[in-house]
Amino acid sequence: MSSDGLNRRKRVVNRNSDTNEENVSRVVSQEGSPERQQNQSIMKRVMSLMALLMAILVIVYYMTQSNDTKELVMASVTQSITGSPIAQQMMCSQDHNEDRVQFPSCAPQRCGRFVSDSVITESEAKHLLSVAERGLSLGGSSGGYSVLSVHSGTLSMANNFVNIYKLMESTQRKTEDLKELFTEKDLEVYRTVTNRVRKTIAIHFGVPSAQLYLTNPTVFSRHTANRPQIKGHVYWHRHVDKRHVRYVQFTSLVYLSTYGADFSGGRFIFIDEMSNQTIEPKLGRLSAYTSGSGNEDIVERATSGTRYALLIGFTCDPMFAAKDPQILSAIFPI
Ligand SMILES: *[C@@H]1O[C@H](CO)[C@@H](O)[C@H](O)[C@H]1NC(C)=O
Repeated sequence: MSSDGLNRRKRVVNRNSDTNEENVSRVVSQEGSPERQQNQSIMKRVMSLMALLMAILVIVYYMTQSNDTKELVMASVTQSITGSPIAQQMMCSQDHNEDRVQFPSCAPQRCGRFVSDSVITESEAKHLLSVAERGLSLGGSSGGYSVLSVHSGTLSMANNFVNIYKLMESTQRKTEDLKELFTEKDLEVYRTVTNRVRKTIAIHFGVPSAQLYLTNPTVFSRHTANRPQIKGHVYWHRHVDKRHVRYVQFTSLVYLSTYGADFSGGRFIFIDEMSNQTIEPKLGRLSAYTSGSGNEDIVERATSGTRYALLIGFTCDPMFAAKDPQILSAIFPI
């Protein structure tokens, strides 16, 4: 705009090029004229508009920055955590106090969480995935969240649960069918993996592994984007494991599918005061944590695909130890 004004002034000068200095000086004196003042006020408006834009940009920048710090990725899917685990420590919350009195050497003295990709092999994870798929294919909830316990036989079915072993009995399936459902090899891999997870947790949190028992909830889980039919299907709510199951000390998850490849959404999130910490599931990835209120968590709703995992709870109380899945061959002698 100012160059326009300048050109106009040049034209004025050119038109008057044959006249005397007086004319030229009159043109020059136009610098303080209303036209000049108008230019200056436009300039001012442009400047203040630019200042406003800058301020908005700065605010947007800081807002996105602070959003980033509210959600930290503890373990991303592209990472491979093969050395020492990614770990975080914290003071134990009050809800571990009672256990410390009852089980002084087994209850956690220090609390925290860790993630590792080197505890479970890819072939073990793939094997467990095939067990989960096979078992859950016999039932499955009508909503987006199904479970199967190989210890108790509990299996989600429509809006309820059935017992997979009783189901086998009542439908008079033959022993051969059961052998196909869970083979000796399946149970061997299951025991090997759950034992290794138990030892890994014991070492990490400094408790004797012999005092840790598998406990409820220990289930294969399947999360999908299916619409919930009943309240129990809504899995994306924040919770503290120990408030639901008071005797659980440690919770662990063996992921059997991969975020981004097998499903979207469905990330695991620790809800911390200052910032949330997310774990992106990955086939064979292990995450474990003390079950008290320091580790409040939520599973994001899956938006597509299917997410499989093995959830394993550990207790110090032998009263609440899960039955060995070997019970299978006791029910149906092979
Ligand atoms: C953490 O996640 C929860 C659940 O998604 C959410 O309600 C909360 O606002 C998040 N906290 C922060 C600090 O972002």
